[in-house]
Amino acid sequence: MKIIEACHLTKKFGELTAVEDLSLTVEQGEVLGFLGPNGAGKTTTIRMLSGIISPTSGYAWIGDYRTDGEIEHLHESIGLLTETPGFYEKLSARRNLEFFAGFYPNIEIKARVEKYLKTMGLWERRQSRVGTFSKGMKQRLALARALLHEPKVLFLDEPTAGLDPEAAREVRELVKKLSSEGRTIFLSTHNLTEAEQLCHRIAVIRTKLLAVDSGQNLRHRFFRREAVIRLDNPGGTVVEAVKKLAFVEDLREEADRLVLVLSEPDKNRPELVNAIVGAGGRILEVSEREHPLEEIYLKLMREEK
Ligand SMILES: Nc1ncnc2c1ncn2[C@@H]1O[C@H](COP(=O)(O)OP(=O)(O)O)[C@@H](O)[C@H]1O
Ligand SMILES: [Mg+2]
Repeated sequence: MKIIEACHLTKKFGELTAVEDLSLTVEQGEVLGFLGPNGAGKTTTIRMLSGIISPTSGYAWIGDYRTDGEIEHLHESIGLLTETPGFYEKLSARRNLEFFAGFYPNIEIKARVEKYLKTMGLWERRQSRVGTFSKGMKQRLALARALLHEPKVLFLDEPTAGLDPEAAREVRELVKKLSSEGRTIFLSTHNLTEAEQLCHRIAVIRTKLLAVDSGQNLRHRFFRREAVIRLDNPGGTVVEAVKKLAFVEDLREEADRLVLVLSEPDKNRPELVNAIVGAGGRILEVSEREHPLEEIYLKLMREEK
């Protein structure tokens, strides 16, 4: 069931088009990575989807609510982690969350605040002033705030940007946990590895939507896979036998390895192995090389230019 639907969203700031004709759906329970370089329109999109700004044209739905419609209902359905979350630095973590929880009707404030301080590993520090928190702790507190009203959809705008590697890892683990609980998460990032680790599908944006697919499919779509066969006895007869196979599109030798491009990798592999063994080849290892997502990203950007 789809829970986010964007239809031809466009946002112009004067002459500048920040987002152009963006159409996209996100399924319930899905983690969608929204990937693009600085200035690509990620934050602008999130602000349109969460009803903070209006699109110049196009529209969007979150569940049953249009983002330009009943804003109260919309705000109950979504949680938002902004790029620079602000807190009352002189108040404790707990007081801050109690304050923000007060905006939502019908929630048991104390219990909710306790629950999410614990979820985010901040319960021990509940009495500390937020001003004394590290960046990573503030980010976890911001996640707790976004979750207080237990929204259906969570928007996370570059949740690990500016964090040290350890704090970034902690935040990623928390995102994984939220995902495993079945939450729908729309996560923007300019970090490709992060998108691959956390997201079911990745939407690549640079003003326009360039591609939407799983990390794996993005790879397969834009690059050929290479089969790598490591041999105990590389050389002559085996290479000749492999060259004769019609489905071998490319072949090169690297030390004790044969690196091949197959026309249908998953289908051809058994026959390939049979041919090598038939020619007296002693196989130590069969593996596959895949190109990192980084290259796809750059390729998409180049094609767009
Ligand atoms: N309020 C605004 N007024 C004018 N230009 C803006 C505004 N917000 C964003 N932009 C511009 O829109 C483009 C997209 O910005 P943004 O959505 O913040 O990108 P990202 O989050 O991907 O880095 C950028 O060129 C940015 O300068
Ligand atoms: Mg941004």
